[in-house]
Amino acid sequence: MCPVREIVSLSSVEPEQFKATMRRIASTVTVVTSKSGPAMNGMTATAVCSVSATPPCILVVVNQTNRSHALIEDAGIFAVNVLSEEQEFLAQHFAQKSDDPFVDVGYRCGMTGAPILSGCVASLECVVESQTRSGTHSIFVGRVVSAAERDQRPLLHTNSRFVRLERSRLL
Ligand SMILES: Cc1cc2nc3c(=O)[nH]c(=O)nc-3n(C[C@H](O)[C@H](O)[C@H](O)COP(=O)(O)O)c2cc1C
Repeated sequence: MCPVREIVSLSSVEPEQFKATMRRIASTVTVVTSKSGPAMNGMTATAVCSVSATPPCILVVVNQTNRSHALIEDAGIFAVNVLSEEQEFLAQHFAQKSDDPFVDVGYRCGMTGAPILSGCVASLECVVESQTRSGTHSIFVGRVVSAAERDQRPLLHTNSRFVRLERSRLL
C-alpha cells in the first residue's frame, strides 16, 4: 500500500474534474449573513454543515475573497438562513455583490446582530469558535446561540441548478 504522502503526490485530480464531481452533490441553499459595526452582508452558501449537537455547532466554508469573509472574521458572528423553495430569488440576489444587499429584502436583526431573513425554513445564529484556513477558503465553526425552524420545503441546488424537492410525504 502507498504511504499517505505518496498517494497525495501521485494525485492528479484537476480542479475542473473536482468541480464537475462536486456538482453532482445536492445541497440545501442558505444565505450566510453577517454584521460588523454598520456593515451588513449576505452570501448564498451551500457549504454549511452540522458539526455537533452537544454543544450545538455548525460550520460554514467561506471564500477568503468574499466580502462576507472579512465581516465574519471581524465580528465573530454569523447567521445561516435556510431558504425555502419559494426563495430562489434570494439565492440569486445574494450570489451577487450588490452595493446595498438588504434593500427590498425583508429581515430583522437577531440577538447577535446578524440579519435573519423573513420567510426562511430555518435560521441559526452563531458565535465563531474557530477559523481554519484551507486553500482558498476558511472553515468557520460557530457555536449556535439561537435556532428556529418552520414546516416548509427547503430549496436545493445540484448540477448548477436550483431544484425543488419532489412532492413527497417527507414533509
Ligand atoms: C448555489 C451557490 C452556492 C454557493 N456556496 C458558496 C459557499 O458555500 N461558500 C462561498 O464562499 N461562496 C459560495 N457561493 C458564492 C457566493 O455566494 C458569491 O461569491 C457571493 O457573491 C459572495 O458575496 P460577498 O463577496 O458579498 O460575500 C455560492 C454561490 C451559489 C450560486
